[in-house]
Amino acid sequence: MHNKIKLEIKVNNKVHILNIEPRLLLVDLIRKELNLTGTHIGCDTSQCGSCIVFLDKKCIKSCSILAIKCNGKSVQTIESLGDEANLHKVQKAFKDNHGLQCGFCTPGIIMTALEIKKNNIYKENEIRQFLDGNLCRCTGYHNIVKSISSYIKEIE
Ligand code: FES
Ligand code: FES
Repeated sequence: MHNKIKLEIKVNNKVHILNIEPRLLLVDLIRKELNLTGTHIGCDTSQCGSCIVFLDKKCIKSCSILAIKCNGKSVQTIESLGDEANLHKVQKAFKDNHGLQCGFCTPGIIMTALEIKKNNIYKENEIRQFLDGNLCRCTGYHNIVKSISSYIKEIE
């Protein structure tokens, strides 16, 4: 049993101060301590991308970083976007273009889509390349790429 250590972290604009195990992963902090279960765990090899969140405005795999490394930092999860009654534009684009089936990979892919738009990537082959850290076992990716293309063409 390790001694717990103090962590101060902002998640979806809310500051949390917690005592955590030093070995706690960011994804487990998000899901188990903060109950934000929209961020998924789909592998134990850092390959699937279903755990992707923003850390200080940059996309990261939250299963591959210790929570304590995020001390003083700011995290954004899928819950910070729209909800069922008021979808964010990226969520609407996935709905309209059938960009999901079971939906397990979708939170991570949506966070990646935000990063794609932020990086001004428009070409289909570049979108596909950017998605190489996100695995989807259902869709065959075509409608995911279509959804992202439609979202990045939106005028904010
Ligand atoms: S759970 Fe993080 S990459 Fe699969
Ligand atoms: S929609 Fe099922 S894994 Fe992607």
